[in-house]
Amino acid sequence: MKQIVVVSGSHRLGSQSLKVSKVFRASLMERGSVSDVSILDLASKPLPLWGMDEAQGQISQVDLTELKNKIAAASGFVIVCPEWHGMVPAALKNFFLHFSGGELAHKPALLTSVSSSIGGAYPISELRASSYKNSRICYLPEHLIVRNVESVLNENSALNNGNHNLLMERLVFCVDLLIEYVDAFERIRNAEIFSTKRFKNGM
Ligand SMILES: Cc1cc2nc3c(=O)[nH]c(=O)nc-3n(C[C@H](O)[C@H](O)[C@H](O)COP(=O)(O)O)c2cc1C
Repeated sequence: MKQIVVVSGSHRLGSQSLKVSKVFRASLMERGSVSDVSILDLASKPLPLWGMDEAQGQISQVDLTELKNKIAAASGFVIVCPEWHGMVPAALKNFFLHFSGGELAHKPALLTSVSSSIGGAYPISELRASSYKNSRICYLPEHLIVRNVESVLNENSALNNGNHNLLMERLVFCVDLLIEYVDAFERIRNAEIFSTKRFKNGM
């Protein structure tokens, strides 16, 4: 049975990214082959800045060993990233600093960006360019950009605009694809080459 982790990359409490993450969780939970879907909300469960310790004021509110085990046990991910000043928020970059030791390696992940207007392309581009080298996370070629986020994917349908249904259809399509990738990548991780420890980091 598959375990999926949805990472909500905003570090604002009650963010739109968290709203979108919950829609993904609900859609994933509808699949019979998925046993567990958890949301890692980087706002309510902030990770300490990697490399800094308590003497520098970084007291972890999260059991990092427990989280590491959870991520290592997952077979797929949805990364939900808001666009902040055309960038990926620091908390999400920090997530990749914490988990580039093999926990994400050779596992499929669906990228989703969130914008309150018509943005959303920059974080997709940034994550595709820079977050996979040592984490070895494998992004699906398909991704989702949630534009005008306040007007779609709301529980209260009165708040949704005319784009909601098409976006929802696309979200379900992306989830269907992710599940297929999760199944296929299982075989890759079981291959002998996967146990090669020769090259610790990517080039
Ligand atoms: C610091 C900051 C910078 C932002 N910059 C952008 C931007 O460059 N492009 C954009 O489309 N939206 C931008 N937004 C709006 C976000 O897209 C919007 O807040 C959206 O709800 C996603 O963020 P959230 O998940 O934190 O709610 C910015 C928001 C914040 C807080």
